[in-house]
Amino acid sequence: MSNKIPSRPVRPRRSVLYLPAGNARALDKLSGLDCDGAIFDLEDSVAPGAKDQAREALREFFGQGRAAALPGGMEKIIRINALSSPWAGEDLLAARGCRPDAILVPKVEAPEDITAIEDALEQTDAPLNLRIWAMIETPLGVMNAGRIAQAARSDGTRLDCFVVGGNDLIKETGVASLPGRPWLAQWLMQIVLAARAYGLDVLDAVYNDFRDQDGFAAECGDGQAMGFDGKTLIHPAQIEPANRAFGIDDTARVEAEAIVSAFAQPENHGRGVINLDGRMVERLHLEVAERMLEKAQRISARDNQEITS
Ligand code: COA
Ligand code: MG
Repeated sequence: MSNKIPSRPVRPRRSVLYLPAGNARALDKLSGLDCDGAIFDLEDSVAPGAKDQAREALREFFGQGRAAALPGGMEKIIRINALSSPWAGEDLLAARGCRPDAILVPKVEAPEDITAIEDALEQTDAPLNLRIWAMIETPLGVMNAGRIAQAARSDGTRLDCFVVGGNDLIKETGVASLPGRPWLAQWLMQIVLAARAYGLDVLDAVYNDFRDQDGFAAECGDGQAMGFDGKTLIHPAQIEPANRAFGIDDTARVEAEAIVSAFAQPENHGRGVINLDGRMVERLHLEVAERMLEKAQRISARDNQEITS
């Protein structure tokens, strides 16, 4: 196992929308939406009796080229049922055949869960750029988040992103679901920390009350402050506020540009720390600024439809 954390490309994942895979109206709607990613759900939003139909709808959507015709840069993720469920095998085969960007695995509780999916994908000769996203949504998942994220250090790993499953976490723990998430916050931070330790992206949980725009905006603000890369969403009305909260505003962009340009001055060449208008700025801030500008550039390319895949 290598000690080096694989460096991953910067991808905007401000807004990642779930939709039930069998919901034809939602599938129709997707091409007009401005989310950074779409999660086609075969799990909780699909009733046990409708799993086959949802899988079939997904095959059609991808098979007919409708997924490929979605706006450039929109990541396509398929959420399969839990490995312990009777549907996981068929879901995995269907998902792999659709060739999405990633497969989202629910209720991941140990590194072995990731290995099992990696092995299953290997056996079907899945393309190497098919990534794995993991839902952290159970007490064991939170407790083992660091060990699970460590799988991101294995050579050739597909593990790419953690997604918090807030509704399951609340159900499994009995924690109170309150505005500001006071009791949940420490577990959310644990998940962020685990992801960061091993270079994974990490997405915040959904906000169920999709008509409450103020509550949603507040929770986006909290999630951004906690260090999440973006939020998972359940309704189109949540896309624009999430893009705003997890995007890069003009002030942040101008500041990042000033840091990059200051370090580029000949007199600052080779210096570890500089004075920028009365503020100490170190090379670590330069790294943050460069990454932020790369992300801003990706977002702008996405907005201008310059990304084709
Ligand atoms: N993706 C794409 N389109 C969606 C959507 C979604 N997640 N949620 C709603 N829409 C569409 C609706 O189809 C409707 O389109 P139409 O005007 O063409 O009919 C429009 O947006 C307005 O929807 P609205 O009437 O406000 O809500 P609804 O009653 O149709 O749906 C939910 C409400 C909660 C059932 C729906 O948003 C949903 O299924 N969300 C995702 C749930 C999910 O995947 N959960 C699993 C992860 S937690
Ligand atoms: Mg769940």
